[in-house]
Amino acid sequence: MTSKAQQWSSQRAFILAVTGAAVGLGNIWRFPYMTGENGGSAFLLLYILFVLILGLPVMMAEIMVGRAGRAGPMQSLMNMARENGASPQWRHIATLGAVTLFLILSFYGVVSGWSLAYIGKSISGDFAGQPPNVIGGIFGQFLENVPLLLICHLIFMVLTMAVVARGVTQGLERLNNLLMPLLYLLLLLLAGYAVTTPGFGEAMKWLFLPNPEAITWKATLDAMGHAFFTLAIGACALMAYGAYMPPEQSLPKAVIAVAILDVGVALLSGIAIFSVVFSHGMEPAGGPGLMFVTLPIAFSDITGGTWLSAAFFVLLLLATWTSSINLAEPMVAMLIDKGWRRGQAAFAVGVAVWAMGVLSALSFNVLSDVFPLQALGGIFAGKTVFDLVSSIPPDIFLPLGGLLIAIFATRVMPASDGRAALGGGEAFYRRWRKITVMISAPLVALVLFVSLLKLWGVF
Ligand code: PHE
Repeated sequence: MTSKAQQWSSQRAFILAVTGAAVGLGNIWRFPYMTGENGGSAFLLLYILFVLILGLPVMMAEIMVGRAGRAGPMQSLMNMARENGASPQWRHIATLGAVTLFLILSFYGVVSGWSLAYIGKSISGDFAGQPPNVIGGIFGQFLENVPLLLICHLIFMVLTMAVVARGVTQGLERLNNLLMPLLYLLLLLLAGYAVTTPGFGEAMKWLFLPNPEAITWKATLDAMGHAFFTLAIGACALMAYGAYMPPEQSLPKAVIAVAILDVGVALLSGIAIFSVVFSHGMEPAGGPGLMFVTLPIAFSDITGGTWLSAAFFVLLLLATWTSSINLAEPMVAMLIDKGWRRGQAAFAVGVAVWAMGVLSALSFNVLSDVFPLQALGGIFAGKTVFDLVSSIPPDIFLPLGGLLIAIFATRVMPASDGRAALGGGEAFYRRWRKITVMISAPLVALVLFVSLLKLWGVF
């Protein structure tokens, strides 16, 4: 198969590739609005806790399986199950993953398209010197502009699938090398600006002062889902990247580095966004529009803001690009394993995801009062297509997939393979296994089970 020929050129390249997959809308757009909707510091605390005790071990498990399997996710799972006398049905972890990635990429492409439009709006000076309510209004009008939404979405999907069609490793390495340092620089600048705003103190309190009374089952489920989402785990996406990892590299170090970089981006963008929110008396629970309203407000306040704003949305676009390539790659790799040519597979996946995404784009206008799964009640009630695909797959499917991957990596994959794929020595492998079996897997199962029953009003 083609993907076997590909390999990351170094440990650094692997870390950058996984960081590129991890850092994206999840950190800069989704993290702030989830935090805003779930009581600030309560959510932040749960999220960091879940990154540490669920995210790190499951991320290792997922990459280990790909690394040991050396093929697309489905093939890797099936080969390993067969070789070890387990049922080939384990391959359906990859089926669940593909469905999850399909749904996630469908809304991801739409929101990434928004940043494309916002590059244009920044350059043409739409935000310059405007008061916050006008900048808020611009976002509202933008969501009503159906042709523009659809064009931006289409362009973004074409950009994504064009890279996937050519093979992932080569194109990505160079892009990631440049992107991450620049993105950090700009976020540091924004956070620096935030310190000078009147709302900074309140933002810090809201983000970091513990408020245990805001810890609800919804916040817990959201935080767990977001920990998986932001690290890009639970859907076999990183499994596909693990297959391109050269044998001599250390996985634990890479995973820890990625998690630190990833959480760092989220914190910086949270600080910048909530400082603006509190400086202007805005609502923290501003929903999906939060970032698209607050950051232009910040930029309109900074000298040279027009260009900084354009630069920020370019970087955001690049960050979402590397993530969406990662979202698409496993689906394409699965088709390649079934005998498709890469180009054909990329085209087919692209068209299907695009079509689904159109429903998300229309959820903000023509379909804004269509709630397709209303009849199911509970977490499905009152949700548009966009609301559904942006909450159910990240919050439920990713943790579920992560749980299955953790079970597979500790039960089906033999210890000798696991040890080799993890690459941190015998003692580290034992500790990883113990934490995964005793803490991570049971905790995911517990949170999923209890919070779903709770949200359905069973008790
Ligand atoms: N981690 C990406 C982000 O934060 C999203 C993602 C989820 C990518 C799952 C791949 C797999 O934007």
